[in-house]
Amino acid sequence: MQKRNAGGQEQSSMSLRLQVYCLLIVLTGSLPANAQDDERSLRKAAAGRFLMGVSVNQSDLEDDASRSLLLRQFNVITPENCMKPQSLQPKEGEFHFGQSDLLVDFAKTNELQVVGHCLLWAKDDRTSQWMMINEDRPVERDVLLKRIEDHIEKVVTRYAEHVSMWDVVNEAINDSGEKLYRDSVYTRLTGDEFIELAFRTARKHDPSALLIYNDYDCHRPHKREKLIRFLTEMKQRNIPIDAYGIQGHLSLGDDSVDQLRITFDQLRKIGMKVVITELDIDVVGRDAWWADQGSQRERLRHYNPYPDACPDELLQKQSEQYAALFRLFVENSDIIERVSFWNLHDGRSWLNDFPWRRTNYPLLFDRGRNPKPAYDAVLKTFEAASNN
Ligand code: GLA
Repeated sequence: MQKRNAGGQEQSSMSLRLQVYCLLIVLTGSLPANAQDDERSLRKAAAGRFLMGVSVNQSDLEDDASRSLLLRQFNVITPENCMKPQSLQPKEGEFHFGQSDLLVDFAKTNELQVVGHCLLWAKDDRTSQWMMINEDRPVERDVLLKRIEDHIEKVVTRYAEHVSMWDVVNEAINDSGEKLYRDSVYTRLTGDEFIELAFRTARKHDPSALLIYNDYDCHRPHKREKLIRFLTEMKQRNIPIDAYGIQGHLSLGDDSVDQLRITFDQLRKIGMKVVITELDIDVVGRDAWWADQGSQRERLRHYNPYPDACPDELLQKQSEQYAALFRLFVENSDIIERVSFWNLHDGRSWLNDFPWRRTNYPLLFDRGRNPKPAYDAVLKTFEAASNN
């Protein structure tokens, strides 16, 4: 799988650079100014364990500070929106590849890997109307399956050469209740056949890529039980799912480290690889939005507790949580292929707008693109693991 490696080359060039720095220190008696800052990098720290990635869009690549942050810290990008089905094929047969071509070209030029996100999003509100109807009538099962196959074939053949991992199906599992799958046009008409078709089609047109089933909250006990049941059955039917994508949209102070530990153990047992696909730690917290049948929403709409800056105490708590998470990732690096953040810095996070507008601080870099305490904590975690 030449398209994918956990950054082994980085490791050898890093040790060479380390030797040069040691020599400099011996010769000059001190570290060159800013040398430490210039050299620090997530992708280098994680080399040999897993890849480090981030989601981006074109505006990140056009901003000098963001672009250099991206290139220094990461070795994989996920297009934030432009490869989603509704962006790529807004009307039947009308493909808009402009934005994704630009991102893939940027990745090629800069030797970054690309995650194709996503081939099918199993939600009605993330599916174009044209996909659900056929000449003013609800679409029939066979037509829907053909449309799914055509979309995946078209996108995968265009980008197979450079995409190393595909999020093939996004968010098909139902959040609550007994039903395994979320209600959608796909499940209503095909049961789980759309999942089988999506993975088989992706494999057919890109045999060497890592094929991912991507979802949120499957480390929580109720959804985890469904996830493991689902993946086990898919394996028994030889459906080519290589990895589970843990989106990893976490909240400050949650119990995700403990829950993820259990999840990793269970995934290892069924022979499933893991990618962390959309990591962030919300410091405002958003569970209340869905609690009590949404009755707190009016109050929350005006709730913006940290409009100017994130209190130091919260930054500290966040860095401890990130450190604990990365300790867990390092311990499980035998099954983890990649850890990706969702957005580059706090100012770009979707959690400033979802599910209501507030100033949030979920990532490792602040609005000025500077490293936060959590960044130092993550790097220290890697250092400590390397010294053991
Ligand atoms: C989900 C999707 C992503 C992105 C995030 C947040 O997790 O998989 O593409 O839309 O929500 O915006």
